[in-house]
Amino acid sequence: MSNWVRAHTNIALIKYWGKENENLIIPMNNSLSLTLDAFYTETNVTFDDDLKSDQLYLNGHMQDFNALIKVKTVLDLVRKKAGIKTKARVDSYNYVPTAAGLASSASGLAALAGSASRAAGLDLSSKDLSKLARRGSGSASRSIYGGFAEWQKGHSHETSFAVPVDAADWDIGMLFIVVNDKKKDISSREGMSRTVNTSPFYQGWLDTLDADLNTMKEAIKNQDVHKVGEIAERNALKMHATTLGAKPPFTYWSPDSIKAMDAVKQLRETGFSVHFTMDAGPNVKLICRQSELEDIKHHLLVDFKESQLISAKPGPGLHAISKPNL
Ligand code: DP6
Repeated sequence: MSNWVRAHTNIALIKYWGKENENLIIPMNNSLSLTLDAFYTETNVTFDDDLKSDQLYLNGHMQDFNALIKVKTVLDLVRKKAGIKTKARVDSYNYVPTAAGLASSASGLAALAGSASRAAGLDLSSKDLSKLARRGSGSASRSIYGGFAEWQKGHSHETSFAVPVDAADWDIGMLFIVVNDKKKDISSREGMSRTVNTSPFYQGWLDTLDADLNTMKEAIKNQDVHKVGEIAERNALKMHATTLGAKPPFTYWSPDSIKAMDAVKQLRETGFSVHFTMDAGPNVKLICRQSELEDIKHHLLVDFKESQLISAKPGPGLHAISKPNL
């Protein structure tokens, strides 16, 4: 019997940036994201008595030990909960450019939590799936849900999980400007840890988060795409500002990221309600009306190739599928 599941990626509008507990992945702050239809991971876990160690196949290729670290954390938790010791084979297909800041770890670890728990015979609630996914990668806690989700930081393994906020069944979408799909140098894990430990701007980031989160929730309730974008853009810029104060300093921006940000500003001047956000990579994600996605894409073709532009609509939460979409 197979246990294929699909989880979609999510992009944070209020960022998770920093851990209070690195081992349990308890964040410093609540975060809020939108799950998207365009990027997802499909995963099937099989526990097999004949295996001597866990194995991960990503897009058909066997992965080395390093790639297995986050996966093993989730598998170990599932084994403990199910009272089994059996090793597992994980087959995973990413419909996401891996490690380009397009949040493959969010969909990947959420899908893993879903499939591994099913394969072990556990019937977990969304809340428990969110906690399990979180232990693999913090942002994965939010990919259990479709639409907008908030990861409530909590203070322990039991109290740190995401909850659904809004179905996002209104006129909102995202457009990705892929400026570089090569593997990034500094992982989000390393980047946030260095920032928390060394950046004098980190406290400033934390100080304004509650206000950002509250106004964001209000804007979502009012289905105010302009306000949602405005808050998200400023929140992302504040997050990225903390990295410049780190020791040694770093940035995820490339020259093309700045070119994309300028293009967004120009689009706004043309009258579009469009803002951007960025994660731990150089790609720029635009927040706009779903009904204006194609129009905005058309304008961007002056500066970017068609292959660099990917439209995304709100997507569903974690769900079982009968077979992978190869
Ligand atoms: C910038 O979830 O990848 O995308 O918990 O260490 O695995 P770990 O980090 P990860 O961090 C994502 C950071 C971010 C912002 C966000 O998604 O909220």
